[in-house]
Formats: sequence, structure tokens, C-alpha cells
Amino acid sequence: MIVCLCKGVNDHSIRDAVARGCASVSDLRRELGVASQCAKCARCAREVLDDALTEMRAAELQAAPGMFCPQPA
Ligand code: FES
Repeated sequence: MIVCLCKGVNDHSIRDAVARGCASVSDLRRELGVASQCAKCARCAREVLDDALTEMRAAELQAAPGMFCPQPA
């Protein structure tokens, strides 16, 4: 899905950027140019970013559940 028409950025590019460490729309703007011209894509970019961050954190929790939640003694 195309997110930013001005820069030709799709949701896959945003997910890849999140995997490389982008964690805000400002990061995406700096890395991909998202929301740097007309900025009509900012809301959609934020939604894709939030989804990607949520999925990444869920995957991290599944991979190492004991690292994030204290285990009962
Ligand atoms: S659609 Fe993204 S800056 Fe215009």
C-alpha cells in the first residue's frame, strides 16, 4: 500500500525503517522523506508506524517473555 505519494513510500518501506530503529514520524521523515512535502500522509504513516511497533514489541515478548515481565519466585 502506498502511504506517501509525494515520496513514493509504501507500508513495507515504513516497516523496514521501523525494524532499523525508526520509532516516530520524525524518524520516518528523516529516513524516508515521509510527510516532508504536503504532509497528507502523516496520519497514515503514524498508523503504519504504530502497527509495526506493536508487532515488533509483541514478537520481542514472544521471543523472550521472561525478560520483560517479572517471574514469580
Ligand atoms: S503524501 Fe507524503 S508528503 Fe505528500
